[in-house]
Amino acid sequence: MQSKMLVLIQVIAIVLAFISQQHVALASLVVPVTKHTDATVNPLYSAHTYLDKVQYPSPLISTPAYWNQWRYVQQSLLIDLDAPFSWHYSFPRQEGCQECRQTVTCTESPCTDLRTTSSYQSPLCPPPTNTSMYDIYMDCETCPVNVISPVTGECSQVIPTYEQFMFTRSNGGAVYSYDPHITYPIAGSTPPWTFDPFPSDVLGVMALSSSPYALPAYLGEVDRVIALCLPSNVSAGPGVLLFGYGPYYLGPQRDVDVRSLLSYTALLKHPNSFGYFIGVNAIVIKKQSIIVPNNATTKISTLEPYTKLRTDIYSGVVRRVSKVTKRIPPAKSVAPFGLCFNTTVNGTTVGIKVPDIDLALQDGKKWTISTANSIKQVTEDVACLAVVDNGPTSEHAIVIGTHQFEDNLLVFDLITSTFGFSSSLLRNHTSCSNFDFAVSH
Ligand SMILES: *[C@@H]1O[C@H](CO)[C@@H](O)[C@H](O)[C@H]1NC(C)=O
Ligand SMILES: *[C@@H]1O[C@H](CO)[C@@H](O)[C@H](O)[C@H]1NC(C)=O
Ligand SMILES: *[C@@H]1O[C@H](CO)[C@@H](O)[C@H](O)[C@H]1NC(C)=O
Ligand SMILES: *[C@@H]1O[C@H](CO)[C@@H](O)[C@H](O)[C@H]1NC(C)=O
Ligand SMILES: *[C@@H]1O[C@H](CO)[C@@H](O)[C@H](O)[C@H]1NC(C)=O
Ligand SMILES: *[C@@H]1O[C@H](CO)[C@@H](O)[C@H](O)[C@H]1NC(C)=O
Repeated sequence: MQSKMLVLIQVIAIVLAFISQQHVALASLVVPVTKHTDATVNPLYSAHTYLDKVQYPSPLISTPAYWNQWRYVQQSLLIDLDAPFSWHYSFPRQEGCQECRQTVTCTESPCTDLRTTSSYQSPLCPPPTNTSMYDIYMDCETCPVNVISPVTGECSQVIPTYEQFMFTRSNGGAVYSYDPHITYPIAGSTPPWTFDPFPSDVLGVMALSSSPYALPAYLGEVDRVIALCLPSNVSAGPGVLLFGYGPYYLGPQRDVDVRSLLSYTALLKHPNSFGYFIGVNAIVIKKQSIIVPNNATTKISTLEPYTKLRTDIYSGVVRRVSKVTKRIPPAKSVAPFGLCFNTTVNGTTVGIKVPDIDLALQDGKKWTISTANSIKQVTEDVACLAVVDNGPTSEHAIVIGTHQFEDNLLVFDLITSTFGFSSSLLRNHTSCSNFDFAVSH
């Protein structure tokens, strides 16, 4: 009897130790990522806009200025790997809530930084002024900064403001509702009409770039590592964005850390860009290589729905893919694509399978793009190679777009400047929609 009791006590002690350790390990922040399917101008493109939800505090008019009395509301923001800083719909200051949000004034150093070194560059933008569009501010009380809409390419002005964004913590496998993590970024405040052409529930841009004013720079004790897993199937549930080293668990086997599926390559710097670049030496299809010239740059973009290739590379890829898919009946091509297939056989739609397209990377690793990521079903009976000709003189030879990395786990480690990629998780019987967002208490 005595010894059984002892065992029980030991077990409890171990469990408690485990729980308190787990508490320490809640170092990741977790955000669901949803795929937007509202068709606007070009249904092929708009179907691939990614949104995510971040919580941010919205002061109630005439509440005292304590952050813990603010009401937190959720907002959907477009994920942008390039943007120098985040901006979203918010009113920088409200009557009766003078201290809720402080604007960056024109004499503070972030003002100059945001306007010059961390600026959106576009010849379309007017020169900066110290007078804001809101008449409640005196000259110089704000620092209006130009931003470019990733949807329209048009220029607008935002008011940089000291903000608070609230995130849910996670241990990589479960989500915890207590003790949210609050970050204090400078983010642009903007009126809602800035987002007119955005999908209806999107009210801003979340900058995940390497800029000193983008969100990763404000994570506090959380490691500057971004794990992005975009969903492909809208009905299967959201994908996931995690900040922090991990682990990252996806179902159905919740005990497998999907970091074990990652290969790594170096993240490269590119002048005048806070975005993410990798070195691609060649595109290999069934043992034959399309060489990517040495001086060509490859960028990863969440704003391009399909990979864009400079014409020389595009032609090589299309020629090779059409050669290795001879047995699949062709179809008239559907813009913006150049190589399409007829997927009806005797009146029924069939799934097609094409050979893998491998990106041979500079460190000898390969990123495999399998059919789920290389082919887009455009209509009932037409599927196309989901790459787009970017013209003969495009700035970047390759811009990897979202269709090519849906259901791939991508990890941008800003501490070691490395990029981790899993290739399709579907090959390993999981997907980006398999993160368990059920809240643990
Ligand atoms: C804004 O005001 C600051 C401080 O007075 C000044 O240095 C800066 O040149 C002004 N900028 C513009 C665009 O007027
Ligand atoms: C998408 O997800 C739904 C719900 O899990 C599932 O029933 C459906 O088969 C999936 N579609 C594809 C193409 O995998
Ligand atoms: C890249 O190299 C090719 C061939 O050497 C050259 O013609 C081209 O101008 C170079 N492009 C850039 C952007 O340097
Ligand atoms: C696909 O092929 C079938 C015959 O097999 C034909 O009836 C149909 O029109 C074709 N569709 C397209 C889009 O080419
Ligand atoms: C299509 O139908 C024809 C006639 O019924 C048949 O001979 C042929 O084998 C079918 N093709 C396929 C791919 O099932
Ligand atoms: C994931 O799938 C790939 C391709 O089928 C396979 O080579 C690899 O061993 C799998 N990894 C794990 C950990 O199951």
